[in-house]
Amino acid sequence: MRENLVDWEKVREEFPIRDQQVHGHPLVYFDNAATTQKPRAVLEALRSYYEHDNANVHRGLHELSSRATEAYETARATVAKYIGAANADEIVFTRGTTESINLVAQAWGGKFLGAGDVILLTEMEHHSNLVPWQLLAERIGARLRFVPVRDDGTLALEQIEQLLTPDVKLFAFTHVSNSLGTINPVTELCEKAKAVGAVTVVDAAQSAGHLPVDVQELGCDFLAFSGHKMGGPTGSGALYGRAEMLNAMPPWHGVGEMIVSVTLEKSSFKKAPHRFEAGTPNIAGAIGLAAAIDYIEGIGRGAIFEHDAELTSYAMERFAELSGMRILGPAGERGAIVGFVMDKVHPHDLTTFADQRGLALRGGHHCNQPLMRRFGVPGTTRASFYFYNTKDEIDRMIEILRDAARFFA
Ligand SMILES: Cc1ncc(COP(=O)(O)O)c(C=O)c1O
Repeated sequence: MRENLVDWEKVREEFPIRDQQVHGHPLVYFDNAATTQKPRAVLEALRSYYEHDNANVHRGLHELSSRATEAYETARATVAKYIGAANADEIVFTRGTTESINLVAQAWGGKFLGAGDVILLTEMEHHSNLVPWQLLAERIGARLRFVPVRDDGTLALEQIEQLLTPDVKLFAFTHVSNSLGTINPVTELCEKAKAVGAVTVVDAAQSAGHLPVDVQELGCDFLAFSGHKMGGPTGSGALYGRAEMLNAMPPWHGVGEMIVSVTLEKSSFKKAPHRFEAGTPNIAGAIGLAAAIDYIEGIGRGAIFEHDAELTSYAMERFAELSGMRILGPAGERGAIVGFVMDKVHPHDLTTFADQRGLALRGGHHCNQPLMRRFGVPGTTRASFYFYNTKDEIDRMIEILRDAARFFA
């Protein structure tokens, strides 16, 4: 659906949480990069599952267990289709991006990387795509290398070729920066990595719910994302891995659902993806995530991207009216994220000031401490939008920021 054919006001009404006062003011929720709100369709899918079908999956030979299993595996197929995976076996359900990246680091990295190998990352990575690699590198003696970030918040692409030496075995990077809003050229980066034989891991936490993401077009080996950042429940998410990658990886958690047989000394394991889903999975989470995907697809990812982009460029225009503001990130196209620093005001104080007026922003380092250091700031205040937000809400934010500038002057 085209952006201008969507009835956004009606869409907005599908999010019941928005209809409330916070500290005596109508809620304006601009903390969508941390987690998004949930549409009725998702809330209803969760309620219906627990009211009618709740049972454990793949275990009981009874009706409810078959229904739960079918819903869970259908959800896997929905996720696969959504991101263009070749088939549902390439989707592992996880708790979200963090768990997905840790899975790759431990199971793939633990087996295929060794002393002296280079893991290439970027300076703009969320701690979720940094710390798992640091832990792995320390354990196996691998080396970390980083693509620098330019002053305008984009990656120093002119340096990629010289950084991607043949000893780089893995390149992990974010699709959209959670602090800068930068949209990285994933296809180009994957192509360059492939040319030196490096495996690619894409952190799609900030893109999966906001723009069309197709793993075939991107050409990545792994892609991680979180359900709760795209209208789905917390504790839901997925790892995409190309079939041959997943099937070459050992399990990372033991017990439960992932074995074929167990003796006291040894076990044999199921194929991917079940090999990576030890114990009772988040069944309702997977079903809720599939409902969120259906909801997003009903609107259309192209339309959502256009709508997000329009809100973001409107916000950028309005921010430009304020003095004493430093906006981080690219001036041109960006994701629905604006991180800024207001002269003389600490991001925590500004966020608290905004909260008192019903406006939910986020203040701090956003799990991007190295990036904050790169820009010489302790943190930023971040406004992040989703398709249920409006220009009126952005106007309200600007009013509050003007008040804050006077208050803290
Ligand atoms: C770019 C990026 N990567 C990873 C994460 C971690 O996501 P989760 O906490 O859902 O695992 C986030 C969350 O803010 C993020 O923005």
